[in-house]
Amino acid sequence: MMSAISRLLASSSWSVLLQKSLHFLLNMLRFHTGAAVLALTAAWVCQADVGDFTPCERFFYNAWPPKGLVGAAICQRYLNKYHFASLYDRHRRTPSYSAYLFSPADTKRPHTHWKYEPQLAYAKADGNMIPFPPGPVDQNVVQSQAIELDYINSSYTRGHLSPSLHHSDDIDKCATFTLTNVVPQKGPSNDGPWAAFEKDIKNRLTSYCAKEAYIVTGVIPYQKDRWIKGDRVAIPEYLWSAYCCPSYNTSIPANLTQAFPTYAAIGRNDPNSTEEIVPVDKTRPKKYLGYDVRLMSLKTLEMYLQDRLGTVFSVFYNGCST
Ligand SMILES: *[C@@H]1O[C@H](CO)[C@@H](O)[C@H](O)[C@H]1NC(C)=O
Ligand SMILES: *[C@@H]1O[C@H](CO)[C@@H](O)[C@H](O)[C@H]1NC(C)=O
Ligand SMILES: *[C@@H]1O[C@H](CO)[C@@H](O)[C@H](O)[C@H]1NC(C)=O
Ligand SMILES: *[C@@H]1O[C@H](CO)[C@@H](O)[C@H](O)[C@H]1NC(C)=O
Repeated sequence: MMSAISRLLASSSWSVLLQKSLHFLLNMLRFHTGAAVLALTAAWVCQADVGDFTPCERFFYNAWPPKGLVGAAICQRYLNKYHFASLYDRHRRTPSYSAYLFSPADTKRPHTHWKYEPQLAYAKADGNMIPFPPGPVDQNVVQSQAIELDYINSSYTRGHLSPSLHHSDDIDKCATFTLTNVVPQKGPSNDGPWAAFEKDIKNRLTSYCAKEAYIVTGVIPYQKDRWIKGDRVAIPEYLWSAYCCPSYNTSIPANLTQAFPTYAAIGRNDPNSTEEIVPVDKTRPKKYLGYDVRLMSLKTLEMYLQDRLGTVFSVFYNGCST
């Protein structure tokens, strides 16, 4: 009981707190009263997308969201359909990770508006993401999440966690252009080694993954937070990514046998970081120097995440083994 309460208090927003209290109440009711009250309460609780991954659990291997981090669960909904999922860190105003189903494609990056998540600002808002208006942005939206102005002239680009490149459907692609799926990423990482990594993963999964590939991509913050625009949006020191492809072509080339069913990587977002986690390839063109991506096993990634996030973090159910 005490730990349940302290977990409630640790959650970052009152709307999440309210929902959790209601879930608690719901469990009590399930115990003590009839179905009518239960149904009524359930209808009320289930309105909001923020706080629960249930409607979009198909984006997680075995319907099991990563364990270890708390935050606002966003089922990324656009045009009345779910497209992927993100765990949002309200304090840093960035996602901690986005999770999605890979879908091979050779289609172009779309021209689309940047969008925001109304439910972070208004718990009862409709669950669909909304394009930013051309003029001033509602103050509750400004308070609850990153807005376009935060990134303009910040010296950081908008780095997608769920990238449009890994989706074939046009609406899925457009749905990735929400700032709740984006972190401040240095340009030479975003269009250099990290872009090359995303392309490699796309080619590898397209060639050898027989069925679903589940991908989770997230951030490692600095040990002491650094921000753009004062204390608006926290800059990640590293990006990380892992995939889980339970069913794959057994005649994969010898150099890829370590890479299935699961593999991971950490990418640098700061040339000044030390080289303990990701060493620097000094032979790179000067522009991209210090933005390396290191491929590694899921276990190695989880070791670094545990060390840096200060919590046991499991990306995939049972380590993606069946
Ligand atoms: C960004 O910087 C340019 C050039 O210094 C300036 O003209 C522009 O007004 C700035 N935009 C914002 C939104 O700060
Ligand atoms: C598996 O990969 C090999 C090449 O390594 C390819 O020839 C074969 O067609 C693939 N099989 C399937 C079922 O994709
Ligand atoms: C595996 O080897 C092939 C050539 O056989 C090469 O093209 C590819 O880049 C290698 N992949 C990795 C991840 O080393
Ligand atoms: C890295 O350090 C140099 C020199 O101190 C500084 O000019 C630069 O802004 C730093 N880069 C980042 C990404 O912090």
